[in-house]
Amino acid sequence: MFANKKLPSIFFIFLLLPLLLQFSYADLQFNFYNESCPRAEEIIKEEVTKLYKQHGNTAISWIRNLFHDCMVKSCDASLLLESKYGILSEQASDRSFGMRNFKYMETIKNALESQCSMTVSCADIVALSARDGVALLGGPHIEMKTGRKDSRESYAPVVDEFIPNHNDTMALVLSRFQSIGIDAEGTVALLGAHSVGRVHCVNLVGRLYPTVDPTLDPDHAEYLKRRCPSPEPDPKAVQYARNDLETPMVLDNVYYKHLLEHKGLLLVDQQLVSDPTTLPFVTKMAADNGYFHDQFSRAFLLLSENNPLTGDEGEIRKDCRYVNKD
Ligand code: HEM
Ligand SMILES: *[C@@H]1O[C@H](CO)[C@@H](O)[C@H](O)[C@H]1NC(C)=O
Ligand SMILES: *[C@@H]1O[C@H](CO)[C@@H](O)[C@H](O)[C@H]1NC(C)=O
Repeated sequence: MFANKKLPSIFFIFLLLPLLLQFSYADLQFNFYNESCPRAEEIIKEEVTKLYKQHGNTAISWIRNLFHDCMVKSCDASLLLESKYGILSEQASDRSFGMRNFKYMETIKNALESQCSMTVSCADIVALSARDGVALLGGPHIEMKTGRKDSRESYAPVVDEFIPNHNDTMALVLSRFQSIGIDAEGTVALLGAHSVGRVHCVNLVGRLYPTVDPTLDPDHAEYLKRRCPSPEPDPKAVQYARNDLETPMVLDNVYYKHLLEHKGLLLVDQQLVSDPTTLPFVTKMAADNGYFHDQFSRAFLLLSENNPLTGDEGEIRKDCRYVNKD
């Protein structure tokens, strides 16, 4: 009866074939909600635009959200889970310092729930709000696939293993991005997100006190010392500097021009110029905003598609702050 060893393996192929086909259908796709919630992308864009008009820096937050959600294991809205019901939020990590506007994510989710309940994932909201934020801030328009599902867990204990620190070496930064398929050119472009937004003094004083970092322009150091007068700033104080004083609300290549003038804010920013691997890309991006935008779009898509949960994996959260109760 068991003499013919070939038969079982043929059976296995027939059993596995439909399974394999199913997996290929579970990829991210363009217009994933075209039937289940046809206006999903428009609703998100409307809400992101409304919020931007009320609080311009929400658009900035959505860009940082994509990095902090997708870089840590998967684009699955694990970032949005709050510390409750036995979960420790990724937002509580030191690396998430300064992240803001999470309450307005609920505004977007509520607008979707009122039109298509339990249909659009929080992970897709993270991704689409980020790309709409980029466009509102004068960055490129990015076509994005959807169909991400939401995690049932937070990765708070391992955030540090994925998100680099503000003073890590460029070698470490490049290897972290490399591990999710983003090359040096893409990494340089993504850091251009620091063209918008702010940095709190706690993340800067290491370059100012007790002595000024020699890679920092002395006049700029004087300016930063005025912004951050204490070597030990109160982390709760809202003391910060902007990366780009000229166009702080525009995602443009002024960031790279500043780096070449040694006016980078974070140590990682400035290291893009000190490191011979990344310097040529900085020079090129400083000279050509279109090239910066093209590279930014390419790397942003790679980041937004890092290891998503799809198909039967994960869930569609009802409330982005909490895992669904079964
Ligand atoms: C090596 C990689 C990175 C490091 C170490 C880093 C670190 C930081 C730090 C320390 C801040 C300031 C937080 C504060 O003091 O309030 C910041 C802000 C910001 N980061 Fe990054 N970042 C990195 C990459 C990225 C990437 C890839 C993006 C998005 C594509 C991004 C988007 C932002 C944005 C938009 C802000 C401003 C947030 C605001 O003003 O609310 N960062 N980052
Ligand atoms: C919806 O999108 C999917 C994937 O792109 C496509 O196969 C399908 O035909 C689309 N349906 C409609 C009604 O556009
Ligand atoms: C990096 O900065 C942190 C504070 O944010 C500090 O504790 C740490 O010692 C610094 N590391 C290096 C290598 O300077």
